[in-house]
Amino acid sequence: MTSTELAREALPQRIKRKIKQGMGPWGVFLEGFLRHPVMVGSVVPSSRFVINRMLSRVDWSRCKLFVEYGPGVGTFCRPVLDRLPRDGMMLVIDTNPLFIDYLRRTVNDSRFVAVLGSAADVEEIVRAHGHEKADYVLSGLPFSTLPDGVAPAIAAATHRVIRKGGAFLVYQFRPKARSYMARHFKHIDQDFEAVNVPPCFLWWAWKEEDEA
Ligand SMILES: C[S@@+](CC[C@H](N)C(=O)[O-])C[C@H]1O[C@@H](n2cnc3c(N)ncnc32)[C@H](O)[C@@H]1O
Repeated sequence: MTSTELAREALPQRIKRKIKQGMGPWGVFLEGFLRHPVMVGSVVPSSRFVINRMLSRVDWSRCKLFVEYGPGVGTFCRPVLDRLPRDGMMLVIDTNPLFIDYLRRTVNDSRFVAVLGSAADVEEIVRAHGHEKADYVLSGLPFSTLPDGVAPAIAAATHRVIRKGGAFLVYQFRPKARSYMARHFKHIDQDFEAVNVPPCFLWWAWKEEDEA
């Protein structure tokens, strides 16, 4: 903004901008929620307890491509990049342009790629970035509030895109999300994290060696 534009900015707008700036990523997340409440599904980003528990089961030595659906303001991005091998790639996919724009501006890491799009198109997106398969896919998507048919389509595409021995990592407030995974993955581990707003379920759906 130029100084003339700043001077002309109406007071309520100026106050709103200052509050947003002061809140940092929380302000961006809240704005994303207020614009698309059904697609975002939560007003607060995940806690570090959810992050650490969810990522504790990843075999990082065998991770070349880590995909995340619905990164929001990137709560998981730094923790994933801190663990990812130097020749790995983290590909995040979100339908909200506000979040993708924010991530492109704030995450400075050559292994990081942020794509504006739907998780349902994960296979094309992965191929467009030079990979056939993903080692791990992480999702914080609000499965139960997505438009009709989207959650089953995402679960099916995710099962196809994960390599054998890899896993689909999902955290959700409602237990129903497990049913979408169970249609495709035979082996699903479950846990629960109470220190989060709200407390949530965690699942690791493994693609076994004998699966197609
Ligand atoms: C609850 S927020 C997750 C926030 C973040 N991962 C965290 O842990 O704090 C859900 C995110 O999913 C995104 N989303 C919703 N539908 C999507 C879809 N079909 N494909 C990709 N992202 C989607 C929303 O824009 C939002 O960023």
